[in-house]
Amino acid sequence: MNFMNFENILVASTNGLATIIINRPQKLNALNRRTIHELSTAFESLEDDTTINVILITGSGEKAFVAGADISEFANFNGQEAEELARLGQESLFNRIENLSTPVIALINGFALGGGLELAMACHFRIASDTAKMGLPEVSLGVIPGYGGTQRLPQLVGKGKAMELIMTANMISAEEAKQWGLVNYVVSSDELMPLAEKLASKIMRNSSVAISAAIRAVNDNFKDGVDGFKTEIHEFGNCFESDDFKEGTTAFLEKRKPNFPGK
Ligand code: COA
Repeated sequence: MNFMNFENILVASTNGLATIIINRPQKLNALNRRTIHELSTAFESLEDDTTINVILITGSGEKAFVAGADISEFANFNGQEAEELARLGQESLFNRIENLSTPVIALINGFALGGGLELAMACHFRIASDTAKMGLPEVSLGVIPGYGGTQRLPQLVGKGKAMELIMTANMISAEEAKQWGLVNYVVSSDELMPLAEKLASKIMRNSSVAISAAIRAVNDNFKDGVDGFKTEIHEFGNCFESDDFKEGTTAFLEKRKPNFPGK
């Protein structure tokens, strides 16, 4: 993998764990077009890399995860340009992350606003530092969330809470976000990466084939016109054809820990 051309993100990997850091701290890691393109490229490469089993994404510095889409870039757009911006972002990045076969965890280390919260919500699950603040303030700018926020927030927290957060443009604390079910854990800033690594190492002990199948089945619960139960039956059957399944069941019967080949 060649990440040398990235200007706005840093990507590192060790022992099957990749970390993406959005690195525009002077703009609170706001998502401009280049950053979205770089993130999309990085996720595509990391998904193709069979040595990577979990991906973490966070923001550089202690202040922000991502403070939103870069407002300076779209302030002069007309309706058609804005539609194109939202469509391109959703297709190239946000939907890609949600449907990635490799698990993605968001480490919300500060402000996650607008496109920043939408980015975190596209990840498979979220953990936050106790300094994090989350919100979808778009209506305070005269616009609505355009990177999936109106769809994923109600999925995660229910319609009433989502309506309230969007209409008020309020920011909620990490603790409130946890009560709402938006983040799974809240820890101090120092503990955020160690917690992510601990969760990642637990995930990595399991079958990556089965985990990818589970991601597809869970996601199909939220797709229009798709019967997630049917997906589950199909994916359940597929797992039986994998070397991981043979290893997992054999190891259990032999009373030893499995060593999954990941295929
Ligand atoms: N787009 C573009 N630039 C942004 C940005 C965004 N979404 N969020 C922050 N920035 C920039 C600021 O313009 C400022 O740049 P400058 O130093 O060149 O003037 C820099 O990041 C630091 O932000 P600043 O506002 O000075 O920090 P603060 O501590 O006073 O406030 C926030 C922090 C998060 C409350 C504030 O930056 C904010 O409200 N950001 C926009 C949030 C938003 O509405 N996001 C949704 C977009 S759809």
